[in-house]
Amino acid sequence: MKILMVAAEAVPFAKTGGLADVAGVLPRFLRALGHDVRVVMPRYYRVDRADLRRVPGLLAVPMGVVGTLQAEVWQGRLPDGDGHASDVPVYFVDFEQYFGRDGLYNEAGGQGYLDNDNRFVFLSRAALELCHHVGFEPDVVHANDWHTAAVPLFLDTLYRADPRLGRAASILTVHNMEYQGCFYSGLMNVLDVGWEHFNHLEIEHDDEVNLLKGGIYHATLWNTVSPRYAEEIKTARFGHGLCGVARDRAADLRGILNGIDYAEWDPSTDPHLPAPFDADDLSGKAVCKTELQRELGLPQRDVPLIGIVSRLVHQKGIDLIAAALPRILGLDVQFVLLGSGEAWAHDHFGRLHRDGPPNFAAHLGYSNPLAHRIEAGCDLYLMPSRFEPCGLNQLYSLRYGTLPIVHAVGGLDDTVQNHVEGTHQGTGFKLHDLTPQSIFDTVGWAVHTWYNRRDAFRAMQVRAMRERFTWEDAALRYVEMYTEAVARRRA
Ligand code: ADP
Ligand code: GLC
Repeated sequence: MKILMVAAEAVPFAKTGGLADVAGVLPRFLRALGHDVRVVMPRYYRVDRADLRRVPGLLAVPMGVVGTLQAEVWQGRLPDGDGHASDVPVYFVDFEQYFGRDGLYNEAGGQGYLDNDNRFVFLSRAALELCHHVGFEPDVVHANDWHTAAVPLFLDTLYRADPRLGRAASILTVHNMEYQGCFYSGLMNVLDVGWEHFNHLEIEHDDEVNLLKGGIYHATLWNTVSPRYAEEIKTARFGHGLCGVARDRAADLRGILNGIDYAEWDPSTDPHLPAPFDADDLSGKAVCKTELQRELGLPQRDVPLIGIVSRLVHQKGIDLIAAALPRILGLDVQFVLLGSGEAWAHDHFGRLHRDGPPNFAAHLGYSNPLAHRIEAGCDLYLMPSRFEPCGLNQLYSLRYGTLPIVHAVGGLDDTVQNHVEGTHQGTGFKLHDLTPQSIFDTVGWAVHTWYNRRDAFRAMQVRAMRERFTWEDAALRYVEMYTEAVARRRA
C-alpha cells in the first residue's frame, strides 16, 4: 500500500507532544510491514536544511482568495531505531512566510500565531499538491489532529476527480479532541471548497470554521489513540462540543492504542541512565534513584520518589496537583516535576522549588535526557489527567518499573491495571474521581504500599516492566483500518 502521513510535527525533527512521537515512529513500522510510506511536515527553523536535499522546482499551492503560493520542498529520511537513516522519506514544505519561525504553533508559551489558520490549511493543501510534484499516488492519506484535518475535506471535494488522488482514502487520527482549529468563517474563502459546506453537520460550529469537525465528517475512517477515548468522545463530558459529530460518525470510528519506541525506552540500554537495569535485576534502578536525587539537589534518602514529566496545561490536571501538593509533601516522600507550559505553573512550581520544602524539586523546561532519568529513578509516577487520549508517559513509567498513579480515563484506563489491595496484582494505582483530595488519597495508598507491602510493590514493578505496548501491534491495526478505508473508498 502507498501511504502519505501528514502531520504538523514528527520526531526527531520537531516535537511539542505525543503527536510527534506517533507521526515520526509509526511510519517506520508501516515500512517494516512492506508499505511505501512517506511523511509530509513543515520546515520550521529548527529543521536544518543542511541535512536535507532540495526537491527540484517549486510547489504551487492554491489558497483561494490568498492566491497561489509557491513553496520549496526539501527531502530527508526518518531515522530507524538505531538513529541511522531509514528508507522512509520525509518531505518538508518550506515556505518562509508561514513556517520560518522558532515555534510550531506559538512563540514559547504564548498565544497561537494569528495566521495559524492559513498556515495549516496551507500545509494540508501542500501535502496533496506534493503528490503531483513528486509523482506519488497514495492509496491512503493519513492526517493527524486539527492542523491537517482539512486533508479529508479536500480529498472529498476538490480532489474527487483528480487523476492521482481521486481514489485515495483518507484517515484522520484525533490525538486530542480539545484542539479543534476554530477560526473566523472567512477561512472558507481560503479553503475554497464552496460555502455550501459551511453547515452545522460539516464545517460550521458556533458560527466559525471548525477544521477538526470538517475532518471528522469527511474522513473515510477515523480513529483515536485508545479504545476507551473513542468511547468517551461520544459523550458531552469528553467531546469538547463535538460529541454530536462523533456520534454521527461512530460506526467509522476506531480506537487504536499507541505504541512506544522500546528501542529508545529500554532501561537496560538507555544511554541517559547512570546504571542499567531490567525486570530480572532492579539493582541499577536504586543507583538511578540516588543519582537523580543528587542531580536535583534532593536529600539522598530511601523514601518514595514521585515523578511527573508533562506539558503544564489544564488537560494534565496540573492545577489539581498544585492544590494537592502541600499535603503530599507533608508525607515522608520526595517529588520531582519536569515540565513546561502555562505561565502560572512556571511561577508556582518555580517558587515552590526555591522557597518550598526540601523534598520538592522542579525543572521548568524541556529535557529528554532528564525525562529518561526521572522515569528510571522514581518509584511512582503521577498522571491525574482530566482526559487522556492515550498518554505515553505512563507507558514509559511501566517500562521503567515506576508505578503510575493515574486518573482512570482514556488511554490511562486502558493501559494501567489497578492494584488490588491485599494481593500482588496490578501495575499501578487508579483514581476514579478527580479532586485534590482523591489525588492525595491515591498517592497515600501508593506510598503506603511502598512502605508496608514492599513485596507487593516489587511484584507490581516486575509485572509493569513486562507489559508491552508495541508499534508492531499498532501498525497492524492501522493497516487493517487503511485496507478497510481503501475498499470503502473504491466501492
Ligand atoms: P501529550 O502529547 O498530551 O503532551 P503524551 O503523554 O502523549 O502527552 O506525550 C508527551 C510526550 O512529551 C512524551 O514523549 C514526554 O516524555 C514528552 N514531554 C512532555 N513534556 C516534556 C518535558 N518538559 N521534557 C521532556 N519531555 C517531555
Ligand atoms: C495527544 C494526547 C496524548 C497522546 C498523544 C499521541 O497529545 O494528549 O494522550 O498520547 O497525542 O497520540
